[in-house]
Amino acid sequence: MHDAIMQTYGRMPVTMVRGEGARLYDENGKEYLDFTAGIAVTNLGHSHPAITEAISKQAAQLIHCSNLYYNPSQIKLAETLVEHSCMDQVFFCNSGAEANEAAIKLARKYAFDHYGPEKYEIITFKDSFHGRTMGAITATGQTKYQKGFGPLVPGFHYAEAGDLHSVLGLINEKTCAIMIEPVQGEGGVLPMNPDFLTALRKLCDEKGILLIFDEIQTGIGRTGTLFAYEQFSIEPDILTLAKGLANGVPIGAMLAKKHVSKVFTPGTHASTFGGNPLATTAALATLDILLGKGYLERVRTLGNYLADRLAELVKKYEIAVEVRGMGLMRGVLLKEGAGAVVSAAFEKGLLLTVAGGNTVRFVPPFVITEADIDQAVSIVDQVLGEKSMEFEK
Ligand SMILES: Cc1ncc(COP(=O)(O)O)c(C=O)c1O
Repeated sequence: MHDAIMQTYGRMPVTMVRGEGARLYDENGKEYLDFTAGIAVTNLGHSHPAITEAISKQAAQLIHCSNLYYNPSQIKLAETLVEHSCMDQVFFCNSGAEANEAAIKLARKYAFDHYGPEKYEIITFKDSFHGRTMGAITATGQTKYQKGFGPLVPGFHYAEAGDLHSVLGLINEKTCAIMIEPVQGEGGVLPMNPDFLTALRKLCDEKGILLIFDEIQTGIGRTGTLFAYEQFSIEPDILTLAKGLANGVPIGAMLAKKHVSKVFTPGTHASTFGGNPLATTAALATLDILLGKGYLERVRTLGNYLADRLAELVKKYEIAVEVRGMGLMRGVLLKEGAGAVVSAAFEKGLLLTVAGGNTVRFVPPFVITEADIDQAVSIVDQVLGEKSMEFEK
């Protein structure tokens, strides 16, 4: 335990000093197979040489100059994101929570400008996760993240994910936006039903409500396409990104369609560090690789392989209920003891995380091989074997 650090995480008792590809090394030189990727961040693996080279060169040239001026990598990154998404404009910030704050503010400003001050309510979903700022914890439909921090931001309501009737019951003339993760990440790696998302899109169109997709975890290739929405055949009005966008260099982005984004005018929103040359250069180098020929197809192939291998464990062990997820964002729902499984895997050199209480989450970097997946599955197999005996006692 390091007392000078506020203990906001239940950290493993280890200090990581180096990373290479899908592996991390601690201060004693012990190797770990990393199926957390910094919680779905270092998608191209640790210390990717192209990213290291790009940020080293940029650091020697210009790290920061403020948003009082343009910088070339910010312009190019915005253009690249616009070119490869259904969106028209980008606002840059530094994290996922900030991207969601920007989305909440944009949705409210759009409704204010078009309909007046009474249309400000936002519907989000139970078991969602949108970050830790006051706005983002309020948007997050889980009381455990909100307890002790009240009063929360007014105007948020929580529907049952996947249940259109529940959404209909909360919609009224005050509703300005619906915000959703296409695959709930922290809530337990739970993909939304495509028909549900299509119905939400239709409802939003009918009622003058904006649809916000939080793709902070699902975006940047994690589900096998650059953005998860591409696999649901609908387009949101606002899209938030962070995590994998710059392969570990802090960055967030909020993208929107032009008719929405144009309500943000000088002075309405800002970020000192947002879109700085260092972070945007890292993001450009990341996208350059990710958008290369066959890269995302490989993510889909490996994702299917991982899902198939995990399904074998579900068949084998009584405590394993199901495999969930898309692409290289997978979870195994257990009846109990996900935390104990993650701790035991850690002891055996495999890094995993828990999501949604009892889901063991697998979000490896895209540079893993089938052999790495086999190694990870074999460790989880051993752990479940040992734990199944304990749980049955
Ligand atoms: C879907 C989603 N939204 C928002 C966030 C918050 O991102 P950050 O921790 O960068 O603020 C996360 C982080 O886990 C996330 O998974």
